[in-house]
Amino acid sequence: MTIRFDGRVAIVTGAGTGLGRSHALALAARGASVVVNDLGGSLNGQGQSSSAADTVANEIKAMGGKAVANYDSVADAVGAEKIVASAVDAFGRLDILVNNAGILRDKTLAKMDPADYEAVTRVHLFGSAFCTRAALPVMQKNNYGRIVMTTSNAGLFGNFGQSNYGAAKAAVIGLMNVVRIETAKYGILVNTIAPMAATRMTENVMPAEMLPLFKPEFVSAAVAYLASEQCNVSGHTISASAGYVARVQIMSSPGVFFDTSRDLTPEMVADQWANITDMSKPQGFDSAGAEMEYIAKQTMARLKKSA
Ligand code: NAI
Repeated sequence: MTIRFDGRVAIVTGAGTGLGRSHALALAARGASVVVNDLGGSLNGQGQSSSAADTVANEIKAMGGKAVANYDSVADAVGAEKIVASAVDAFGRLDILVNNAGILRDKTLAKMDPADYEAVTRVHLFGSAFCTRAALPVMQKNNYGRIVMTTSNAGLFGNFGQSNYGAAKAAVIGLMNVVRIETAKYGILVNTIAPMAATRMTENVMPAEMLPLFKPEFVSAAVAYLASEQCNVSGHTISASAGYVARVQIMSSPGVFFDTSRDLTPEMVADQWANITDMSKPQGFDSAGAEMEYIAKQTMARLKKSA
């Protein structure tokens, strides 16, 4: 199988450096026309500059690819619409959106300035939602789209000092879970990457000997697959770093079904705790409705049996 993006148009947000740059180069190298979006600010989201996006767009053009730079902020709904408009204006369509832009403002929650909580949430969660919202009408018209969100292990598993970032990154999973249901009928697939790579975001937290192993290009291979026609799943979260690629999924234990004709007490919950939390037979649900159906079916079956 050869994965190509000839004739496809992609937006990569935050593509002026780090992972976004690597994703943009990977898609362009396989034929995509790319909007290289980047606000060009610092790691904590201060300042702005056109040079980051320009540099990467020029890099793509120098290797014979097609790219335009865009400097709007994903955190602003109007900015997000301008990012999408720049794809349509330059290349006439939009097939791929990689929501990658991000900032960090780490501190424990007790010491965190509310403005830092808001700024981080704005870029990661609102930015992903605004860009996706702006992209959908264009993709829906073509009955085709590939959207890749970016989460973080800080949100999936927890990390000290990143309550703003971790919460916003975990919320991106919720965004994917809902949008992929809304867009399924239009051939639009929404998946999420959970990356780890040596970039300015991690260069001070990763041990020096690990940095060369965690090349952004390793993550970009998984992103390019999720962005391709060959990818036919939606709602998947894929962890990718160094040579590791794995699926991460929210799973539920089979659970314990109590008798609904009687009151349920905290003591009964305590008594069944080992069974309630037994993850030896985990199950995933395809939607909130699927979980409700499982609970209702099991409950009704038990009621019938006891009648
Ligand atoms: P980075 O700091 O190297 O790149 C982020 C880019 O986003 C920067 O070029 C920045 O200017 C741009 N950006 C920030 N705010 C923006 C806005 N409002 N509008 C447009 N562009 C904006 O960081 P890195 O490491 O490349 O991260 C990329 C994504 O991957 C982020 O979403 C990050 O949270 C996520 N991530 C990275 C990990 C890693 O190990 N590097 C781990 C987990 C998640």
